[in-house]
Amino acid sequence: MNTHYHTPDLTRWVFARTNYQTIDQRVAILRELLPSVSSIADICCGDCTRQREIYLQTLNLESYRGLDICPEIVEANQAKGVECVCGDALDIDVLSQFQGFDVIFFGPPLSVDCDGHTLLGFRQVVPGFDEFLRLLFAELGYSGTVVCICPKSTTMGDAQWLYEQVRELRDDVGLRLIHYSITTLTGDGEITEPRLKYVVLWLSCRLTDLWEVRKSVMEEKNSA
Ligand SMILES: C[S@@+](CC[C@H](N)C(=O)[O-])C[C@H]1O[C@@H](n2cnc3c(N)ncnc32)[C@H](O)[C@@H]1O
Repeated sequence: MNTHYHTPDLTRWVFARTNYQTIDQRVAILRELLPSVSSIADICCGDCTRQREIYLQTLNLESYRGLDICPEIVEANQAKGVECVCGDALDIDVLSQFQGFDVIFFGPPLSVDCDGHTLLGFRQVVPGFDEFLRLLFAELGYSGTVVCICPKSTTMGDAQWLYEQVRELRDDVGLRLIHYSITTLTGDGEITEPRLKYVVLWLSCRLTDLWEVRKSVMEEKNSA
């Protein structure tokens, strides 16, 4: 395994798991922007059992598949019936297996060793957003929607930089939405005051290049 990659401490699974509020926000945006979505992939998925279940319940999905570099996480997902591949998000052969999906969520580790505390800046994240999008859009000719889950410190300048990197390679990819994802849950599932958790960039060949900026509507749910 590449020693620069961050993988979670397996005794603290909670950091490899997406909370319900975040998943609900993703579902609401999918329903609005891509109501006929039929396949979703989760790259750097961690424990993705929750989102898979909710997507299957709320969207008319034909397929869902995860990818993670950590074999223990992949095995645990598979044991719960989740289709999940073990591999590196920056391995083109691995990534090519995801090219046919309508929507690809890319949620790389945003803190050192996924500890949730030592946060990484936008350009420090590995696997990096620019390299991932280059492989997908330029090398593989992907023609769907990629949702980049970026650190909360991501600025408009970062978003513009990434957009420019992509547009140099493909002028049919637009930035539809910049979503400030606010939740009231910590990584441990504790309730807190509303806090910005992620800046989420919705890049797509199918949606308008609108650069819409929005904050999530609060959804009060108290389970992690
Ligand atoms: C924090 S977790 C999952 C977060 C989740 N995707 C989300 O959106 O909330 C990040 C995962 O990325 C995995 N990972 C790290 N480097 C990777 C790489 N190069 N390829 C695939 N997965 C990787 C880690 O093992 C970890 O499970």
